[in-house]
This record gives sequence, structure tokens and C-alpha cells, in this order.
Amino acid sequence: MGYQPDGAALLEVVVRAAREAGAVIRAAAPRARSIDWQSKGPTDFVSEVDLAAEACILAVARRDLPGATILAEESAATTPAERVSRGLALVIDPLDGTTNFLHGYPEYAVSIAALIDGEPVAAVVYDVPGDELFTASAGAGAFCNGAPIRVSTIADPQRALIGTGFPFKDAKDIAPYQAQMSRVMAQVSGVRRPGAASIDLASVAAGRFDAFWENMLSPWDFAAGMLLVREAGGVVTDLGGGLLRPVASSGVLAGNPRLHGWLMGVVRG
Ligand code: IPD
Ligand code: CA
Ligand code: CA
Repeated sequence: MGYQPDGAALLEVVVRAAREAGAVIRAAAPRARSIDWQSKGPTDFVSEVDLAAEACILAVARRDLPGATILAEESAATTPAERVSRGLALVIDPLDGTTNFLHGYPEYAVSIAALIDGEPVAAVVYDVPGDELFTASAGAGAFCNGAPIRVSTIADPQRALIGTGFPFKDAKDIAPYQAQMSRVMAQVSGVRRPGAASIDLASVAAGRFDAFWENMLSPWDFAAGMLLVREAGGVVTDLGGGLLRPVASSGVLAGNPRLHGWLMGVVRG
């Protein structure tokens, strides 16, 4: 078998790539509102900045991890799950929160996970406007700008702040989501929809959110964040409590261990 880098070595590479992409995004931010967007769907956009950030990450990956399978939102989004599940793979969202970025709303990130046999072993979520670098490697904990982070200890839903993401691609998904939202809102202290799923998961890991759910995410939205949550002592599953594999799209439910099961029950109805 060939050389297989360990979690720490992989983390070094993905952090370097995320910082380089972050610099590209930061340099473009002052002119964000005049950047041209292309439509991927009626309410789903990509800009030249997403593409430039992804090119930057891919250049680092090809140089430093030449054998890795790539699953990347803008240029390699259709890599089959079966390939991503085998050996070393990188799951890349070059700019998570594109809509926020294009409106100058300061909530967007670079998200990269390294997987071995489908399991995340190194992860970075770089919140560019906040300049917060969230990192984790399997078995070694989760960190924000080098300081250890832990999920919250809140157990009472009435005291909980819950993160979520709205369905925005298909209008038929809105009504069932509103029913979930009504049930959650009636029982908690607050619900937030910041607009970048990778940062939402980092917020669970850091104890800022007590739990989070979104009914459908792409693997690049949650691959890095799910390792942050686990390494910070949290629980992250699909909506039914099943194993989450960041090789295909899925609903995502994350939380501190006290509130994860509670939120799952409320979301399910
Ligand atoms: C989106 C964000 C958003 C989530 C969407 C994602 P993008 O990613 O993470 O919070 O609700 O489902 O698609 O398109 O900005 O990379
Ligand atoms: Ca995304
Ligand atoms: Ca994106």
C-alpha cells in the first residue's frame, strides 16, 4: 500500500488550502456587490469568486495530495459516492454562503474535509469575515483559532438556541419545513438561519448553537462541520438518527448529546 498521510498531516494541507482560498475571497469581498453571478438554479448562484477559490484549493490538493479523489461543489460535484468512500478523498465547498457573500452579509466560509474510506479524519471551516479558523482531526479534538472548543451543556430546550437552514431550491419543501419550524419555535429560546451550513455546524461545535437541523444538504456543506461537532463532544446524524456519510446529500441533525435526541423527535413530529 502507498503512503497514507495521517490526520495531522492532512489537516496541515487542508488548512493551508482553506487559508489560500480565504485570501482570494477576502480580496474580492469589497467588490462583492458588483460581481456577476451565474445561475445554477432559479435561486442558486455561483460567482467567479467561488470558482477562483475552488481553483486555489484544487491546486494545493493536486500538488500535495496527488492521489486524492476530489468531490468539489463547482468542478467535481458528480464524483460517485462509491469512489468518495474509497481511500483518500477531499470534500470541498470553496465558498459556503455564496448568497451572503454576494450581498455583503458577513457570514461565509471555506469548508474542506479529508476523508479516509468515507470517514472524515481532518476538517477545516474557515469563517472568512469573522477570521475564525475551525479545525479538527479524528481523535484529536476540535479547535477555533487554536483554542479547544466544546459543545454546550444546555439540556433544557427552553434555554436552547437552535440553528437551521431553510429549503430554498424547491417550493414544495417549504410547507413541511414550516411545520417543523413551528414545533421547534414553540419550545426553544431562539432559532437562527445564518446561511452557511458549515459555520452552523462549527457553531454547534463551539457551543454557540445547542443544536442544528437542515432537511437537505450536499456533502460539501457538512463534511467538515460534522467532524468539528463530533470532536467537540457533540452528536451528528441524519434526520432519523442514522449514520451520516459525507459522500452524498442528506438531512443533517447535530447537537450537544443532551439535545440531539430531543430535536430529532420534534423535527420528526
Ligand atoms: C448553502 C449554505 C446554506 C444552506 C444551503 C447550502 P452555498 O451553500 O450552506 O446555509 O442552507 O443548503 O447550499 O450554496 O452557499 O455553498
Ligand atoms: Ca455550501
Ligand atoms: Ca458553495
